[in-house]
Amino acid sequence: MLARGARFQDMPTFQEKLNEQIAYEFAASQQYIAIAVHYDSETLPQLAAHFYQQSLEERNHAMMMVQYLLDSGEPVLIPAVAAPQTSYADDVAPVALALDQEKRVTAQISQLAVTAREAGDLVAEQFMHWFLQEQREEVSSMSALLQVVERLKDNVMLVEDYLARESGGSNPLEAGAPPAAGGAL
Ligand SMILES: [Fe+2]
Ligand SMILES: [Fe+2]
Repeated sequence: MLARGARFQDMPTFQEKLNEQIAYEFAASQQYIAIAVHYDSETLPQLAAHFYQQSLEERNHAMMMVQYLLDSGEPVLIPAVAAPQTSYADDVAPVALALDQEKRVTAQISQLAVTAREAGDLVAEQFMHWFLQEQREEVSSMSALLQVVERLKDNVMLVEDYLARESGGSNPLEAGAPPAAGGAL
């Protein structure tokens, strides 16, 4: 928890929690780079590309939160980031790890929305709505990828074929995304 002043010592404000969330989004971004590099090193370019892209999305989430705090005139504490896991038991494990991460972030995002609501901060609550939709999509798509990778674990090249065929569609949520500090990548 990021302490700020003596106010509400046991109860972090929405702005304090959002600053914490920036660290979790950047950590997710680093974790996805680690997963992408793992697949890249095994010459699985579609899986690698998928996770390099996921990493950028997480980075953008962090920068949307930075922009929100800038717009609110609140302090922005750019955080240190927890080290990612870089070795995996097999080619299924990174996707399982990714799904766990998305579920954990969904709980964090939900808690942020609840904190905003309890504070009567409707602007903050509305800001979180896009992230709730995004988490629904990300948990769903990562669950689907885990199902495919588990089914095809004995021939991962078929996962590559699947991703080559199925990926590349644009995310409809992108259109309504909050602005990111410095511009989304
Ligand atoms: Fe995220
Ligand atoms: Fe995510």
